[in-house]
Amino acid sequence: MPLVEALKRYGQSVPVRFHMPGHKGRQLAHVIKDLELNLYNWDVTEIPGLDDLHQPSGPIKKAQEKLARLYGADESFFLVNGASSGVIAMVGANAKPGDEILISRASHKSVLSALILTGTKPVYVMPEKDENLGVYTQVASEAVAEALRQNPDVRAVFLTSPVYQGFCPDFKLISEIVCSKSKILLVDEAQGPHFGLNLSLPKSAGEFADAWVQSPHKMLTSLTQSAWLHVKGDRISKKHLKSFLKLVTTTSPSYILMASLDMARGIMEAEGKVLTDRALELADIARRYINKYTPFYAVGAEMRGKNGIYDIDLSRLMVNVSGAGYTGYEMERLLRRDFNIYAEYADLYNIYFLVTFSNSKSDVDGLVKALSTLKTKAKLSNSIIWPDKLPKAVMEPRTAFYALGEHLPLEQSIGRIIKDALVPYPPGIPLLMPGEVVEQEHIQVLSRLLKSGGHCHGVTSEGFVQVVAEL
Ligand SMILES: Cc1ncc(COP(=O)(O)O)c(C=O)c1O
Repeated sequence: MPLVEALKRYGQSVPVRFHMPGHKGRQLAHVIKDLELNLYNWDVTEIPGLDDLHQPSGPIKKAQEKLARLYGADESFFLVNGASSGVIAMVGANAKPGDEILISRASHKSVLSALILTGTKPVYVMPEKDENLGVYTQVASEAVAEALRQNPDVRAVFLTSPVYQGFCPDFKLISEIVCSKSKILLVDEAQGPHFGLNLSLPKSAGEFADAWVQSPHKMLTSLTQSAWLHVKGDRISKKHLKSFLKLVTTTSPSYILMASLDMARGIMEAEGKVLTDRALELADIARRYINKYTPFYAVGAEMRGKNGIYDIDLSRLMVNVSGAGYTGYEMERLLRRDFNIYAEYADLYNIYFLVTFSNSKSDVDGLVKALSTLKTKAKLSNSIIWPDKLPKAVMEPRTAFYALGEHLPLEQSIGRIIKDALVPYPPGIPLLMPGEVVEQEHIQVLSRLLKSGGHCHGVTSEGFVQVVAEL
């Protein structure tokens, strides 16, 4: 049982977990361990009394109603196939095949799945960048306004907030722009299920959006793969959204996942403010100590107001290590190998730690102590310049997906149309989407990343990419 053995080894090594899921392998001590104790007992199907996710009228309906009340939605839906299924349903329910949808380029790859499955045409809006940190930041409201001026036919605007770094855009302004053009605002808030529960956190997109999806398994306590979707107002057909959700939902939804969602909601309803205060405090301690006692820079509130960033989730811990001569990849390996500390992820310049209320003070102390033993090194020789402009698109993603493909070495793909998206992971923002043309600057960025230890979905381990075959 290779997977079971690997999980046993991981668990027994007692790692310090700054990665997802948000529960960090710990049940909250004061919550009865019902779920853990009843894992097999509660693994059931739609028997009488236990309702049916596809047509809820009993306890699932009640649980979803409580969820909607907590997040200020008209209706909320449990998802058992991650926020990814919610993203697909939001897009599919609001745009028909051939309709245009305005999408932030800083979107998770589930949006690509949505485009391919639904045949929706993307119109992209580029986020701003922070050159020092080597990351895209957020979409400026002016960019949304300009994109809508240039593309008056788009059906909906789809944004992601927070992005992995915790950056949020100015939703108040953006929603005014979107509403003034009578468009629908859809938000991927997968990384922000704790928003709206504490005034010290950014406002939830739910205050402004027509529909928004959240992944409580990332920052709260529900189990991996569980998520929820909220809808508000009358600009979206709730009936159609429900029909779409059925298309992307298994007919055997896990009661264990749904129970973990109901519990996560219950916990946040009872103690959301106290618990999120705890996460913020832990992250704040880490940030202050890292900035004072280590050669690294923990990013904080100073990011507000720059590069399209209106607000920042300070319970996420983004640490820039390139300033002290390390790549994020190197730091991730070093912390894991020498200190048994697992980060959420790393990119060329930075490393990211996901701090939730399930982390302990000793987790944070261990991290700060480990980082304080490291000394500044010679400046990094490798830098990264992300493209400012969108690539040239000559085919819709869906057309490229269904086209015949051929594999070529990355360096020989200049001028060819990409079939498999090239998504540096992290940051998970597509460099090239299916149907876009490879240029020299894309090869340069990817070669740098791969040489420094980064990964790119769409590039094989032998360095090949799939392009659309020439007929
Ligand atoms: C911004 C964003 N959206 C959507 C998803 C997909 O969420 P899930 O893994 O719950 O399907 C992720 C996953 O990391 C994400 O970061």
